[in-house]
Formats: sequence, structure tokens, C-alpha cells
Amino acid sequence: MKRFLPLLTVGLVVLGGCGLEKPPAKLAEELNKAEKPAAAPAAPAAAPAPAAPAAAPADPKLAAGKTVYDGGCNACHDAGMMNAPKPGDKAAWAPRIAKGEETVIKNTINGLNGMPAKGGNAALTDEQLTNAAKYLMSLAK
Ligand code: HEC
Repeated sequence: MKRFLPLLTVGLVVLGGCGLEKPPAKLAEELNKAEKPAAAPAAPAAAPAPAAPAAAPADPKLAAGKTVYDGGCNACHDAGMMNAPKPGDKAAWAPRIAKGEETVIKNTINGLNGMPAKGGNAALTDEQLTNAAKYLMSLAK
């Protein structure tokens, strides 16, 4: 849009000069239309995007951790249930991260007060839980 500003200005001056009464908004709309390429053909049926609140991290381990988190940990943590620290809540995570990442990971595996061992999902491996814990900590740094 920015690069249309001079064009728009010229257009308005010209219109003003001719005494034409065309609302600038309409003109901008037409300029926009002219710029847009023809509608792209419908994309091939892509896999449905997961209902992810946040974009997947670039780091593959953190991305794997996000998948684990979205698969059940979110039930408590998104809602802050029983004071579960919410993702990205720096104030809630800072004192936990300060204990050391290894301790937080250990607590994720073994449980901590209202947090069941393995987040209540015994099928998760220590590696998956480590990734998920690191993902959560990465959101709060
Ligand atoms: C039943 C609810 C519940 C589920 C499910 C759950 N958590 Fe938690 N989680 C909690 C609560 C409550 C705390 C806060 C515990 C405390 O500090 O007393 C917590 C704390 C944590 C912490 C901080 C630990 C620390 O040392 O401070 C991490 C990391 C964590 N959870 C990761 C996960 C992961 C990963 C999953 C999924 C595999 C998960 N949680 C599933 C309730 C849950």
C-alpha cells in the first residue's frame, strides 16, 4: 500500500482538478484490486493444520515438545489449573527455571504436587517429556 501513496495522491489531485467526486477510499480499493494477482488455483487438499495457538518452534526438539504439550499437558496448563504455570507466563516460570532446567525436567517426569508424573500420560518417554518441558521453558524466557 505504501508505494501507492504517491499514485493515490496524484489520482486525488487529478480527480480534484476534474471536479470528479470519487471517494478516496473507493480509489484506494480499486488500486488494490489492480495490484492483486489473479486468484491462485485452489491449493491441493493440505493436511488440516493443528489447532495450534502458537506457531511451531523452528527447533525440531522444541517443535516435538509442543506436539507433546498440545496432546494433553495443555488440559491443565492452558487453564492454569491447580496453579499449573501457563505457557508464556514469565512470572510463573521464572522461579521454576531458576531451579535449573534439569530439576524442572525431573519434576516433569516424576511429578510435582498437583502435577502427575509424566503429566499423567505414562505412554510418554522421558525424551518426549524433556522436549515438552524445554518447550514450555523456552516460551517463558
Ligand atoms: C493434571 C494437570 C496437569 C497436567 C495434565 C500436566 N501438568 Fe504440568 N503442572 C501441573 C501443576 C499443577 C504444576 C505446578 C506444580 C507445583 O509447582 O506445585 C505443573 C508444573 C509443571 C512444570 C514445572 C515443574 C517445575 O519444576 O516447576 C512443568 C515443566 C510441567 N508441569 C510440564 C508438564 C508437561 C510437559 C505435561 C504434559 C506431558 C504436563 N505438565 C501435564 C499440572 C499438570
